[in-house]
Amino acid sequence: MRIFLDTADINEIREAARWGILSGVTTNPTLMMKSRGASHEAVIKEIATIVDGPISAETVSLDTAGMVEEGRRFARWHPNVVVKVPSTPNGWAAVKQLKTEGIRTNVTLCFSANQALFAALAGAYIISPFVGRLDDISEDGMQVVRDTVEIYRQHGLETLVLAASIRHPLHIIDAAKAGADIATVPFKVLELAARHPLTDKGIENFLKDWEKFKAEQH
Ligand code: G3P
Repeated sequence: MRIFLDTADINEIREAARWGILSGVTTNPTLMMKSRGASHEAVIKEIATIVDGPISAETVSLDTAGMVEEGRRFARWHPNVVVKVPSTPNGWAAVKQLKTEGIRTNVTLCFSANQALFAALAGAYIISPFVGRLDDISEDGMQVVRDTVEIYRQHGLETLVLAASIRHPLHIIDAAKAGADIATVPFKVLELAARHPLTDKGIENFLKDWEKFKAEQH
């Protein structure tokens, strides 16, 4: 399973890229709002200088023609741009049109395996089931990821399953166990998942013992 960062914050992307584990980035209008006030195009282009992998940029049109027009514009920014459209009939129609033009799509705001199936049938490159937002309303968000992976495998559908709306480190493990191709993770969750107190304690003890070892050398 690949790890993407769910952010438009350049410093977070630089840091995760430094760790050597980052394969892509997803953005959305809320994440853009939290970034530093640069234009949409400038932010996406800057991300593309840091990460050599898919970078999702989200459309805001409600109609298919508008999504397609936005998608064409985003795709000109960089070859790694993937166009996000919502899980709606207009979104799936946009996926189908953009695919004929060689433009990859990420179908977002997916909350059911039916929506995931329809996105794949339309030709989506990525489907993004939102795990945390389903958990928030007392549904099992990860079950949508499991069902989607099973349906895609059973029917030979090539759309990549991206677990989105990841809220804590266990979501990353569960997404990997469910067979998701990608998890997109907020930086604060990535940091929580990266650390373990026994690793820190172990390093501290080894360094102390190494100093004692060196002091005893002749
Ligand atoms: O980027 C889409 C998704 O990951 C958003 O997550 O935390 O706003 O539900 P969240």
